[in-house]
Amino acid sequence: DSHLILPKLDHIPAHIVSAGDYEQAAQDYMPENIYAAIAGGSADELTLRENCRAFESIELIPAILQEFSSASTATTLLDQCHALPFLLAPIAHQQLVHPEGELATLAAANALNIPMVCSTLASTSLEDVAAQAEVPLWFQLYFQETRDATLSLVKRAEQSGYRAIVVTVDAPLSGLRNRAQRAGYVLPSAVPSANLVNKPAAPPISLAPDQSLILHGLMSEAPTWSDIEWLQQHTHLPIIVKGVLSPGDAVRCRQLGLAGVVVSNHGGRTLDGVPASIRALPAVRQAVGDDVMVLLDSGIRRGSDIFKALALGADAVLIGRPYLYALAVAGALGVAHLLRTLKEELEITMALTGCPTIDSIQANRLNLP
Ligand code: FNR
Repeated sequence: DSHLILPKLDHIPAHIVSAGDYEQAAQDYMPENIYAAIAGGSADELTLRENCRAFESIELIPAILQEFSSASTATTLLDQCHALPFLLAPIAHQQLVHPEGELATLAAANALNIPMVCSTLASTSLEDVAAQAEVPLWFQLYFQETRDATLSLVKRAEQSGYRAIVVTVDAPLSGLRNRAQRAGYVLPSAVPSANLVNKPAAPPISLAPDQSLILHGLMSEAPTWSDIEWLQQHTHLPIIVKGVLSPGDAVRCRQLGLAGVVVSNHGGRTLDGVPASIRALPAVRQAVGDDVMVLLDSGIRRGSDIFKALALGADAVLIGRPYLYALAVAGALGVAHLLRTLKEELEITMALTGCPTIDSIQANRLNLP
Protein backbone atom coordinates (compact mmCIF):
# COMPACT_ATOMS: atom_id res chain seq x y z
CA ASP A 1 0.00 0.00 0.00
CA SER A 2 1.45 3.31 -1.07
CA HIS A 3 0.30 5.09 2.08
CA LEU A 4 2.19 2.68 4.36
CA ILE A 5 5.85 3.52 4.33
CA LEU A 6 7.76 1.15 6.62
CA PRO A 7 7.21 -2.53 7.40
CA LYS A 8 5.81 -3.10 10.89
CA LEU A 9 8.21 -4.12 13.63
CA ASP A 10 8.07 -7.77 14.70
CA HIS A 11 9.58 -7.00 18.10
CA ILE A 12 9.30 -4.05 20.44
CA PRO A 13 12.55 -2.08 20.72
CA ALA A 14 13.71 -1.34 24.25
CA HIS A 15 13.25 2.41 23.83
CA ILE A 16 9.45 2.09 23.40
CA VAL A 17 8.00 1.86 26.89
CA SER A 18 4.99 4.20 26.95
CA ALA A 19 2.13 5.61 24.89
CA GLY A 20 4.20 8.74 24.34
CA ASP A 21 6.99 6.65 22.83
CA TYR A 22 4.53 5.10 20.37
CA GLU A 23 3.26 8.54 19.41
CA GLN A 24 6.82 9.62 18.68
CA ALA A 25 7.75 6.43 16.80
CA ALA A 26 4.53 6.41 14.77
CA GLN A 27 5.66 9.47 12.83
CA ASP A 28 8.17 7.27 10.99
CA TYR A 29 5.49 4.75 10.01
CA MET A 30 3.10 6.96 8.09
CA PRO A 31 3.24 9.88 5.70
CA GLU A 32 3.15 13.30 7.31
CA ASN A 33 -0.36 14.08 6.10
CA ILE A 34 -1.81 10.94 7.66
CA TYR A 35 -0.03 11.65 10.92
CA ALA A 36 -1.42 15.20 10.82
CA ALA A 37 -4.94 13.86 10.33
CA ILE A 38 -4.65 11.44 13.25
CA ALA A 39 -2.71 13.54 15.74
CA GLY A 40 -4.44 16.78 14.90
CA GLY A 41 -7.47 18.39 16.46
CA SER A 42 -9.77 21.11 15.28
CA ALA A 43 -8.95 24.76 14.65
CA ASP A 44 -6.29 26.02 17.09
CA GLU A 45 -6.21 22.71 19.00
CA LEU A 46 -6.98 24.42 22.32
CA THR A 47 -9.13 21.49 23.45
CA LEU A 48 -6.67 18.91 22.08
CA ARG A 49 -3.88 20.37 24.22
CA GLU A 50 -6.11 20.91 27.22
CA ASN A 51 -7.20 17.25 27.23
CA CYS A 52 -3.69 16.16 28.23
CA ARG A 53 -2.78 19.25 30.22
CA ALA A 54 -5.82 18.84 32.44
CA PHE A 55 -4.76 15.30 33.36
CA GLU A 56 -1.23 16.50 34.07
CA SER A 57 -2.48 19.19 36.45
CA ILE A 58 -4.13 16.64 38.76
CA GLU A 59 -1.83 15.28 41.47
CA LEU A 60 -1.97 11.83 43.04
CA ILE A 61 -1.91 11.41 46.80
CA PRO A 62 0.09 8.35 47.80
CA ALA A 63 -0.79 6.02 50.64
CA ILE A 64 1.70 3.69 52.28
CA LEU A 65 1.58 0.31 53.97
CA GLN A 66 -1.78 -0.79 52.58
CA GLU A 67 -2.99 -4.39 52.32
CA PHE A 68 -3.03 -5.77 48.74
CA SER A 69 -3.54 -9.51 49.19
CA SER A 70 -6.95 -9.48 47.50
CA ALA A 71 -6.32 -6.67 45.04
CA SER A 72 -8.10 -6.64 41.67
CA THR A 73 -8.68 -4.43 38.63
CA ALA A 74 -11.94 -6.22 37.81
CA THR A 75 -15.06 -4.16 37.25
CA THR A 76 -18.63 -4.59 36.03
CA LEU A 77 -20.00 -2.76 32.99
CA LEU A 78 -23.47 -3.41 31.54
CA ASP A 79 -23.84 -6.37 33.92
CA GLN A 80 -20.71 -7.99 32.53
CA CYS A 81 -17.48 -8.53 34.45
CA HIS A 82 -14.37 -7.02 32.86
CA ALA A 83 -10.78 -7.70 33.91
CA LEU A 84 -9.81 -4.04 33.40
CA PRO A 85 -11.61 -0.69 33.43
CA PHE A 86 -10.77 0.26 29.85
CA LEU A 87 -11.93 -0.42 26.30
CA LEU A 88 -10.68 0.46 22.84
CA ALA A 89 -12.32 3.64 21.52
CA PRO A 90 -13.97 3.60 18.11
CA ILE A 91 -11.43 4.80 15.55
CA ALA A 92 -12.30 5.02 11.88
CA HIS A 93 -10.31 3.55 8.96
CA GLN A 94 -7.57 1.67 10.79
CA GLN A 95 -6.16 0.38 7.49
CA LEU A 96 -4.76 3.89 7.19
CA VAL A 97 -1.94 2.78 9.46
CA HIS A 98 -1.83 -1.02 9.08
CA PRO A 99 -2.80 -3.37 6.22
CA GLU A 100 -4.88 -5.52 8.57
CA GLY A 101 -6.34 -2.51 10.36
CA GLU A 102 -9.12 -3.40 12.79
CA LEU A 103 -8.29 -7.12 12.70
CA ALA A 104 -4.79 -6.47 14.03
CA THR A 105 -6.24 -4.27 16.77
CA LEU A 106 -8.75 -7.00 17.60
CA ALA A 107 -6.01 -9.64 17.86
CA ALA A 108 -4.42 -7.52 20.60
CA ALA A 109 -7.78 -6.93 22.29
CA ASN A 110 -8.35 -10.70 22.27
CA ALA A 111 -4.92 -11.35 23.76
CA LEU A 112 -5.41 -8.85 26.60
CA ASN A 113 -9.14 -9.53 27.05
CA ILE A 114 -10.08 -5.90 26.45
CA PRO A 115 -13.40 -5.08 24.75
CA MET A 116 -13.43 -3.09 21.53
CA VAL A 117 -15.83 -0.46 20.22
CA CYS A 118 -15.99 -0.76 16.40
CA SER A 119 -16.56 2.35 14.31
CA THR A 120 -19.26 2.76 11.66
CA LEU A 121 -16.35 4.06 9.56
CA ALA A 122 -14.16 0.97 10.04
CA SER A 123 -12.11 -0.27 7.11
CA THR A 124 -13.10 -3.85 8.02
CA SER A 125 -16.78 -4.83 8.06
CA LEU A 126 -18.47 -5.24 11.41
CA GLU A 127 -19.20 -8.88 10.45
CA ASP A 128 -15.54 -9.63 9.71
CA VAL A 129 -14.52 -8.09 13.03
CA ALA A 130 -17.19 -10.08 14.90
CA ALA A 131 -16.05 -13.32 13.27
CA GLN A 132 -12.63 -13.00 14.92
CA ALA A 133 -13.71 -11.61 18.28
CA GLU A 134 -13.09 -13.39 21.56
CA VAL A 135 -13.95 -10.26 23.55
CA PRO A 136 -17.21 -8.32 23.86
CA LEU A 137 -17.74 -5.90 20.98
CA TRP A 138 -19.76 -2.69 21.04
CA PHE A 139 -20.83 -0.99 17.81
CA GLN A 140 -20.29 2.76 17.39
CA LEU A 141 -23.13 4.17 15.33
CA TYR A 142 -23.09 7.23 13.14
CA PHE A 143 -26.63 8.02 12.04
CA GLN A 144 -27.06 7.79 8.28
CA GLU A 145 -28.98 9.88 5.79
CA THR A 146 -32.10 7.70 6.16
CA ARG A 147 -33.54 5.78 9.11
CA ASP A 148 -33.54 2.63 6.96
CA ALA A 149 -29.81 2.89 6.43
CA THR A 150 -29.24 3.55 10.13
CA LEU A 151 -31.43 0.64 11.15
CA SER A 152 -29.66 -1.68 8.74
CA LEU A 153 -26.36 -1.00 10.54
CA VAL A 154 -27.99 -1.60 13.93
CA LYS A 155 -29.58 -4.89 12.82
CA ARG A 156 -26.28 -6.07 11.34
CA ALA A 157 -24.60 -5.31 14.66
CA GLU A 158 -27.31 -7.18 16.59
CA GLN A 159 -27.06 -10.19 14.30
CA SER A 160 -23.28 -10.28 14.60
CA GLY A 161 -23.40 -10.38 18.39
CA TYR A 162 -22.44 -6.82 19.32
CA ARG A 163 -23.43 -6.08 22.93
CA ALA A 164 -24.17 -2.35 22.84
CA ILE A 165 -24.73 0.59 20.50
CA VAL A 166 -22.56 3.65 21.11
CA VAL A 167 -24.17 6.59 19.31
CA THR A 168 -21.65 9.31 18.64
CA VAL A 169 -23.40 12.66 18.78
CA ASP A 170 -20.61 15.22 19.03
CA ALA A 171 -19.53 15.05 15.40
CA PRO A 172 -22.67 15.67 13.34
CA LEU A 173 -20.35 17.41 10.93
CA SER A 174 -16.61 17.26 10.55
CA GLY A 175 -14.75 19.77 12.73
CA LEU A 176 -12.45 22.42 11.34
CA ARG A 177 -9.46 20.12 10.97
CA ASN A 178 -7.02 22.85 10.12
CA ARG A 179 -3.86 20.80 10.73
CA ALA A 180 -5.08 18.05 8.39
CA GLN A 181 -6.13 20.65 5.81
CA ARG A 182 -2.72 22.33 5.86
CA ALA A 183 -1.06 18.94 5.37
CA GLY A 184 -3.30 18.24 2.34
CA TYR A 185 -4.84 15.13 3.89
CA VAL A 186 -7.43 13.14 1.95
CA LEU A 187 -8.47 9.57 2.74
CA PRO A 188 -6.44 7.29 0.40
CA SER A 189 -8.70 5.52 -2.08
CA ALA A 190 -7.26 2.15 -0.98
CA VAL A 191 -8.88 2.51 2.45
CA PRO A 192 -12.55 1.46 2.35
CA SER A 193 -15.51 2.30 4.57
CA ALA A 194 -16.34 -1.39 4.72
CA ASN A 195 -19.65 -1.05 6.58
CA LEU A 196 -21.01 1.43 4.08
CA VAL A 197 -20.15 -0.12 0.72
CA ASN A 198 -23.78 0.03 -0.38
CA LYS A 199 -24.22 3.60 0.71
CA PRO A 200 -25.67 5.61 -2.19
CA ALA A 201 -23.58 8.53 -3.32
CA ALA A 202 -24.74 11.64 -1.50
CA PRO A 203 -27.23 13.54 -3.62
CA PRO A 204 -26.04 17.03 -4.49
CA ILE A 205 -27.08 19.42 -1.76
CA SER A 206 -29.79 21.71 -3.06
CA LEU A 207 -30.65 24.69 -0.94
CA ALA A 208 -32.88 27.71 -1.21
CA PRO A 209 -30.81 30.89 -1.51
CA ASP A 210 -31.52 31.90 2.08
CA GLN A 211 -30.62 28.48 3.57
CA SER A 212 -27.24 27.92 5.14
CA LEU A 213 -25.02 25.18 3.73
CA ILE A 214 -23.78 24.33 7.19
CA LEU A 215 -27.05 24.40 9.11
CA HIS A 216 -29.18 22.73 6.46
CA GLY A 217 -26.90 20.80 4.09
CA LEU A 218 -24.09 19.42 6.21
CA MET A 219 -26.34 18.59 9.17
CA SER A 220 -28.60 16.36 7.07
CA GLU A 221 -27.39 13.14 8.80
CA ALA A 222 -27.29 14.62 12.30
CA PRO A 223 -29.55 12.82 14.77
CA THR A 224 -31.80 14.57 17.28
CA TRP A 225 -33.22 13.55 20.65
CA SER A 226 -36.24 12.10 18.88
CA ASP A 227 -33.95 9.91 16.77
CA ILE A 228 -32.45 8.51 19.96
CA GLU A 229 -35.97 7.65 21.19
CA TRP A 230 -36.70 6.08 17.80
CA LEU A 231 -33.53 4.00 18.13
CA GLN A 232 -34.60 2.82 21.59
CA GLN A 233 -37.80 1.48 20.06
CA HIS A 234 -35.87 -0.40 17.36
CA THR A 235 -33.11 -2.20 19.24
CA HIS A 236 -32.93 -4.37 22.32
CA LEU A 237 -29.26 -3.48 22.79
CA PRO A 238 -28.22 -1.01 25.48
CA ILE A 239 -27.62 2.47 24.04
CA ILE A 240 -24.73 4.66 25.13
CA VAL A 241 -24.40 8.26 23.93
CA LYS A 242 -20.82 9.34 23.17
CA GLY A 243 -19.84 12.97 23.22
CA VAL A 244 -21.49 14.40 26.33
CA LEU A 245 -19.83 17.30 28.13
CA SER A 246 -22.69 19.02 29.92
CA PRO A 247 -24.62 17.80 32.98
CA GLY A 248 -27.93 18.80 31.40
CA ASP A 249 -27.38 16.61 28.35
CA ALA A 250 -26.29 13.73 30.58
CA VAL A 251 -29.44 14.06 32.69
CA ARG A 252 -31.55 13.99 29.56
CA CYS A 253 -29.85 10.72 28.55
CA ARG A 254 -30.67 9.30 31.98
CA GLN A 255 -34.28 10.43 31.73
CA LEU A 256 -34.60 8.55 28.44
CA GLY A 257 -33.39 5.43 30.23
CA LEU A 258 -30.19 5.08 28.21
CA ALA A 259 -27.52 2.70 29.48
CA GLY A 260 -24.77 5.28 29.69
CA VAL A 261 -22.84 8.23 28.37
CA VAL A 262 -19.27 8.79 27.23
CA VAL A 263 -17.86 12.07 28.46
CA SER A 264 -15.77 13.00 25.44
CA ASN A 265 -14.82 15.85 23.16
CA HIS A 266 -13.83 13.42 20.40
CA GLY A 267 -10.16 13.91 21.17
CA GLY A 268 -10.38 17.66 20.51
CA ARG A 269 -11.46 17.03 16.91
CA THR A 270 -14.86 18.68 16.68
CA LEU A 271 -15.62 21.97 18.45
CA ASP A 272 -12.40 23.65 19.53
CA GLY A 273 -12.64 25.49 22.84
CA VAL A 274 -14.81 23.04 24.73
CA PRO A 275 -13.48 21.84 28.10
CA ALA A 276 -11.13 18.93 28.58
CA SER A 277 -13.30 15.88 29.15
CA ILE A 278 -11.67 15.16 32.54
CA ARG A 279 -12.75 18.65 33.68
CA ALA A 280 -16.33 18.03 32.52
CA LEU A 281 -16.55 14.63 34.22
CA PRO A 282 -17.25 15.46 37.90
CA ALA A 283 -20.33 17.59 37.14
CA VAL A 284 -21.68 14.95 34.76
CA ARG A 285 -21.28 12.21 37.35
CA GLN A 286 -22.86 14.35 40.02
CA ALA A 287 -25.82 15.17 37.79
CA VAL A 288 -26.66 11.60 36.75
CA GLY A 289 -26.03 9.91 40.10
CA ASP A 290 -24.55 6.45 40.57
CA ASP A 291 -26.89 4.34 38.45
CA VAL A 292 -25.92 5.46 34.96
CA MET A 293 -22.72 4.14 33.38
CA VAL A 294 -20.33 7.02 32.75
CA LEU A 295 -17.29 6.41 30.55
CA LEU A 296 -14.64 8.95 29.57
CA ASP A 297 -12.16 9.46 26.78
CA SER A 298 -9.96 12.21 25.32
CA GLY A 299 -6.45 12.53 26.69
CA ILE A 300 -5.83 9.15 28.32
CA ARG A 301 -2.10 8.54 27.85
CA ARG A 302 -1.07 6.76 31.07
CA GLY A 303 -2.49 4.27 33.52
CA SER A 304 -2.45 7.13 36.02
CA ASP A 305 -4.86 9.02 33.73
CA ILE A 306 -7.21 6.02 33.89
CA PHE A 307 -6.91 6.16 37.68
CA LYS A 308 -7.71 9.91 37.73
CA ALA A 309 -10.79 9.41 35.56
CA LEU A 310 -12.07 6.60 37.80
CA ALA A 311 -11.43 8.72 40.89
CA LEU A 312 -13.51 11.54 39.40
CA GLY A 313 -16.48 9.32 38.66
CA ALA A 314 -15.90 7.32 35.46
CA ASP A 315 -16.77 3.63 35.48
CA ALA A 316 -14.20 2.97 32.77
CA VAL A 317 -12.34 4.82 30.00
CA LEU A 318 -11.75 4.46 26.28
CA ILE A 319 -8.23 4.38 24.88
CA GLY A 320 -7.98 6.35 21.61
CA ARG A 321 -4.96 7.62 19.66
CA PRO A 322 -2.33 5.67 21.66
CA TYR A 323 -3.43 2.30 20.30
CA LEU A 324 -3.58 3.63 16.75
CA TYR A 325 0.05 4.76 17.08
CA ALA A 326 1.03 1.35 18.46
CA LEU A 327 -0.82 -0.30 15.55
CA ALA A 328 1.13 1.84 13.10
CA VAL A 329 4.48 0.88 14.61
CA ALA A 330 4.12 -2.81 15.36
CA GLY A 331 0.64 -4.04 14.46
CA ALA A 332 -1.14 -6.39 16.86
CA LEU A 333 2.07 -6.85 18.83
CA GLY A 334 2.36 -3.11 19.35
CA VAL A 335 -1.26 -2.70 20.44
CA ALA A 336 -0.93 -5.63 22.85
CA HIS A 337 2.25 -4.14 24.29
CA LEU A 338 0.65 -0.70 24.66
CA LEU A 339 -2.40 -2.17 26.42
CA ARG A 340 -0.19 -4.17 28.75
CA THR A 341 1.77 -1.01 29.52
CA LEU A 342 -1.42 0.86 30.45
CA LYS A 343 -2.54 -2.05 32.63
CA GLU A 344 0.79 -2.09 34.48
CA GLU A 345 0.73 1.68 34.93
CA LEU A 346 -2.78 1.51 36.37
CA GLU A 347 -1.77 -1.29 38.74
CA ILE A 348 1.32 0.60 39.93
CA THR A 349 -0.80 3.71 40.52
CA MET A 350 -3.34 1.69 42.51
CA ALA A 351 -0.58 0.07 44.56
CA LEU A 352 1.13 3.34 45.46
CA THR A 353 -2.08 5.22 46.25
CA GLY A 354 -3.33 2.42 48.47
CA CYS A 355 -6.29 1.45 46.27
CA PRO A 356 -6.57 -2.34 46.00
CA THR A 357 -9.83 -2.37 44.01
CA ILE A 358 -11.52 -0.29 41.33
CA ASP A 359 -14.26 0.74 43.78
CA SER A 360 -11.68 2.03 46.23
CA ILE A 361 -10.39 4.59 43.68
CA GLN A 362 -11.99 7.80 44.94
CA ALA A 363 -11.44 11.54 44.62
CA ASN A 364 -9.75 11.65 48.02
CA ARG A 365 -6.67 10.17 46.30
CA LEU A 366 -6.35 13.33 44.15
CA ASN A 367 -5.22 16.90 44.56
CA LEU A 368 -7.22 18.94 42.07
CA PRO A 369 -5.71 22.16 40.68
C1 FNR B 1 -11.59 9.17 16.32
N1 FNR B 1 -12.75 9.13 17.10
C2 FNR B 1 -13.88 8.52 16.62
N2 FNR B 1 -15.01 8.46 17.37
C3 FNR B 1 -16.12 7.85 16.92
O1 FNR B 1 -17.12 7.81 17.63
N3 FNR B 1 -16.13 7.27 15.67
C4 FNR B 1 -15.06 7.29 14.86
O2 FNR B 1 -15.08 6.76 13.76
C5 FNR B 1 -13.88 7.95 15.32
N4 FNR B 1 -12.76 8.02 14.53
C6 FNR B 1 -11.61 8.61 15.02
C7 FNR B 1 -10.47 8.64 14.22
C8 FNR B 1 -9.30 9.19 14.71
C9 FNR B 1 -8.07 9.21 13.87
C10 FNR B 1 -9.26 9.73 16.03
C11 FNR B 1 -8.00 10.30 16.62
C12 FNR B 1 -10.40 9.72 16.80
C13 FNR B 1 -12.73 9.64 18.49
C14 FNR B 1 -12.29 8.55 19.46
O3 FNR B 1 -13.29 7.57 19.62
C15 FNR B 1 -12.00 9.14 20.86
O4 FNR B 1 -13.11 9.89 21.29
C16 FNR B 1 -10.76 10.02 20.85
O5 FNR B 1 -9.73 9.41 20.10
C17 FNR B 1 -10.28 10.30 22.26
O6 FNR B 1 -9.22 11.19 22.29
P1 FNR B 1 -7.68 10.71 22.45
O7 FNR B 1 -7.54 10.06 23.77
O8 FNR B 1 -7.42 9.80 21.31
O9 FNR B 1 -6.88 11.97 22.31
